[in-house]
Amino acid sequence: MSAASADTGENTLEKFIIKGGRKLHGEVEISGAKNAVVAIIPAVILSDEPCVLENVPNISDVSISLRILYEMGASVIFLDKHTVRIDATGITDPIVPYEMAKHMRASYYFLGTLLGKFGRARVSMPGGCDLGDRPIDQHLKAFAALGATCTIDRGMVDIQSEGLYGTQIYFDMVTVGATINAMLAAVKATGMTVIENAAKEPHIVDLANFLNSMGADIMGAGTDVIKIKGVKRLKGAAYAVIPDQIEAGTFMVAAAATQGNVLIKNVIPKHLESITAKLAKIGVNVEEFDESIRISVDGPLVKASVKTMPHPGFPTDMQPQISTLLCLAEGTSIVTDGIFDNRFRYVNELRRMGADISVDGKVAVIEGVGQLMGAPVTAPDLRAGAALVIAGLAAKGVTEIEDIYHIERGYENFEEKLRGIGADIIKKTVPGAAARKAVV
Ligand code: EPZ
Repeated sequence: MSAASADTGENTLEKFIIKGGRKLHGEVEISGAKNAVVAIIPAVILSDEPCVLENVPNISDVSISLRILYEMGASVIFLDKHTVRIDATGITDPIVPYEMAKHMRASYYFLGTLLGKFGRARVSMPGGCDLGDRPIDQHLKAFAALGATCTIDRGMVDIQSEGLYGTQIYFDMVTVGATINAMLAAVKATGMTVIENAAKEPHIVDLANFLNSMGADIMGAGTDVIKIKGVKRLKGAAYAVIPDQIEAGTFMVAAAATQGNVLIKNVIPKHLESITAKLAKIGVNVEEFDESIRISVDGPLVKASVKTMPHPGFPTDMQPQISTLLCLAEGTSIVTDGIFDNRFRYVNELRRMGADISVDGKVAVIEGVGQLMGAPVTAPDLRAGAALVIAGLAAKGVTEIEDIYHIERGYENFEEKLRGIGADIIKKTVPGAAARKAVV
């Protein structure tokens, strides 16, 4: 896959066709973490030498990120399917135009990395999103605290500075994106930066480890206080991206929803603790090994209450998937999304399959039903799309899922991996039909 040919899949209508009711069984391998690699790829700009990234997932968010680097003047060469060599030293103009940035919300990480490298940046505002209001005020607050001037100019975020200086940054709420952007901007600032109320997700730690492997001086990543001592230059590095905790969680739920028995390989069990604990409460057997987890079910699924929280709480990116599982559990479950204010758009699609869910703001009340029925549905966003696949796998009959380009942003070879553990799922391209444009 070349960076120049990144395709977001938005212009062709592809759908998944799933014949449900088969128990998943066998082994599946988890790929590199999307939410780590979409931060690590832009971070390469900070280096004064080439970098080699390993365990890079083959997903559209990666190809878009690499395409942006390539269009800005970087050399991007795949050494094998999951290893890419990037030399970003050819980039001189810290601008990411709308045309390149519009396909991916995480393009805002180019703000922090370009500001950190060049002292200025001009990147298109991230689009609206299917999850509700997603402002970037905390990102801009961090940049301003470091000494930059931020303005919004015709849809572009324009950041200028006469140099960046270490400072104290206290986030008003826990935010993954702003924590990452603050780290990227601060690694070469003059002096010490202390980020308080920082996000603690595994991908924050992975980015810090990558930056430190290039010679940055970051302490405390994974806690709520991150200290960054600015350094003058960053050298090249070879770095392997961590496994994707959300992809792993998605397969854990898929195995449980089909009453299957699946060994999920290439995982870091510690990253999955909140998911493991919740599945156990629902009546799922979870067996942990050093780098793998086995999921099986030998009794009824039971109701549970779930509230999504920042790490190490239950991840919001697993909310649609666990809600789908709870549709199949006995009793009444309550799911609250403590992070986003509109992350239940998939509920209408599940209702088409016989789910009994009522939503009031950030809270969903789920009445377990014995069986979901296959139906034509449309993926509204990435994780909701994955949840609809899980519903189709568990349902009786055939489910067709449209707008699967959302799913392919974050899941590598999703249908192939599912077929490998016994699912009856195929991808069908409807030539000529264009998918509805959706803002990602
Ligand atoms: C990241 O989004 C992830 N995306 C999301 O994953 C994930 O759901 C989210 O973190 C929470 O874990 C990537 O890593 C690319 P936030 P991000 O800043 O950074 C509010 C997926 O499915 N907020 O932690 O945008 C915000 O509105 C995607 O892989 C502000 O108010 O999330 C939200 O309510 C979906 N102002 C809350 O904070 C800001 O400046 C948490 O958002 C920033 C955030």
